[in-house]
Amino acid sequence: MPRGLFITLEGLDGSGKTTQIKRLAAWMQKRGLSPVVTRQPGGTATGDRIRALLLDSSSSHVAPMAEMALMFADRAQSIAEIIAPALADGRIVLCDRFTDSTEAYQGGGRQLGSQVVLDLHRLICGNLQPDLTLLLLPSLDICLDRARRRNHRATQQTGQDESRFEQEQDAFYQRVWQKYREIAIRDADRVVLVEGNLGIDEVHEQIVEAVSERVLFAGH
Ligand code: TMP
Repeated sequence: MPRGLFITLEGLDGSGKTTQIKRLAAWMQKRGLSPVVTRQPGGTATGDRIRALLLDSSSSHVAPMAEMALMFADRAQSIAEIIAPALADGRIVLCDRFTDSTEAYQGGGRQLGSQVVLDLHRLICGNLQPDLTLLLLPSLDICLDRARRRNHRATQQTGQDESRFEQEQDAFYQRVWQKYREIAIRDADRVVLVEGNLGIDEVHEQIVEAVSERVLFAGH
């Protein structure tokens, strides 16, 4: 069956993913492409409820396996409701986080290991693989500083608290960062690594180059 293109953006909190996905979507729209943009956790009505449960700092003592199971429950809903129908329709899907996040955060950060994540991905997500993954990996210090300041501001402005992960210790994020690098090396055919402390425009240029060369105009 012909299918659309599935592109994911990955990175630590504060890596600039969300800004970049908006820029990439705008770049595509200018070229007459109309991508479906979504995120995980969230993006569906059920997923938004799972997101609130997962990210609110008042959800205390969530067991790592429960956290991982909820991430996959959200993903199953997102695939069923958004991703699979869009791909079957030949659309481009831009997804802010996918299973690499679970491998990095729960597999690496929570130390559940990669294997259980890959096994669940096969069982629950039919092993759906992105055509391209853009992994933004600025230095750990920069990401942490940005993410913590932003969440503090957002909580003050909206009253919506999404800071449960940002309250983790630096050692947790160090493990997430390392696992992301491991994934990039292991899956080099799929993952494009954008490293270093680059400006927003420079990152956008690298993303556009990767998308053009690897998937949009590949072989043309
Ligand atoms: P976001 O702010 O980029 O939307 O991410 C929400 C948080 O959820 C972020 O701290 C990473 C975390 N997360 C996981 O721990 N595992 C996952 O599978 C996903 C999708 C997100």
